[in-house]
Amino acid sequence: MRPHIHCFDTHHDLIENTAAWFVEHMANSSRDRGSCHIALAGGGTPKPLYLRLAKPDLRSQVDWSRVHLFFGDERHVDPQNPASNYLMARAALIDHVPINLTHVHRIHGELPADEAAAQYAGLLATEGPLDIALCGMGGDGHTASLFPEGPELEDTQATVLVTRSPVSPFTRISMGLPTLNQARYVVLLVSGEGKAQRLAEVYGQLLSDDAPTLPAAMLRPESHQLHWFVDAGAASQLPPDALQG
Ligand code: 6PG
Repeated sequence: MRPHIHCFDTHHDLIENTAAWFVEHMANSSRDRGSCHIALAGGGTPKPLYLRLAKPDLRSQVDWSRVHLFFGDERHVDPQNPASNYLMARAALIDHVPINLTHVHRIHGELPADEAAAQYAGLLATEGPLDIALCGMGGDGHTASLFPEGPELEDTQATVLVTRSPVSPFTRISMGLPTLNQARYVVLLVSGEGKAQRLAEVYGQLLSDDAPTLPAAMLRPESHQLHWFVDAGAASQLPPDALQG
């Protein structure tokens, strides 16, 4: 599956254009389906995007009453823990937009992990497919909290899983590939030259007939709406033809 690659010279332009894309597609989804269900990513890369969406000029373009926020993954910590993806999203976005907080569906990382995963799977079962799944990519090619060589990569059924991270917090709760790949749009947001070699490897696996080994290369939405938003640094080792339309 060839991704639609949106590449921008600078990190600033990456965030500006990704935010504009989100505003447009959130509006389209709300218009076409009456709501917009988005799974947020954690880590550091998406935080500037969340901060940008919360600024008045873009915030005012979104009908937040129709937005439901989910989380692609969460660390097995309570929501006040600095490692919490929910806490990061609250500080950068949720606390600054007029969203109905009953439409913010965090993963309950304070519960026993299996219980949190089962609870979230139950929630997702009532919500239907995501409109947008926002994902990041770690330097090892992981996405959400799906890590290379993780047993969860073989699980073609589980909508939410408990996984083990090689870095602390070691226990994670993550949407599974079935959930992510049933989203109408999958957006992979990657910035910086430090991820360039791995992103090129992921690209190669996406285009290969061989089974992928990197979780980020397993993001293959059934809709084929796979959108990579990258800056020039992250794209610097992609083959030249990758960026040609
Ligand atoms: C998490 C994220 C994770 C993240 C990557 C990239 O819980 O950490 O969901 O998948 O997207 O680790 O992290 P950075 O954006 O900080 O490089």
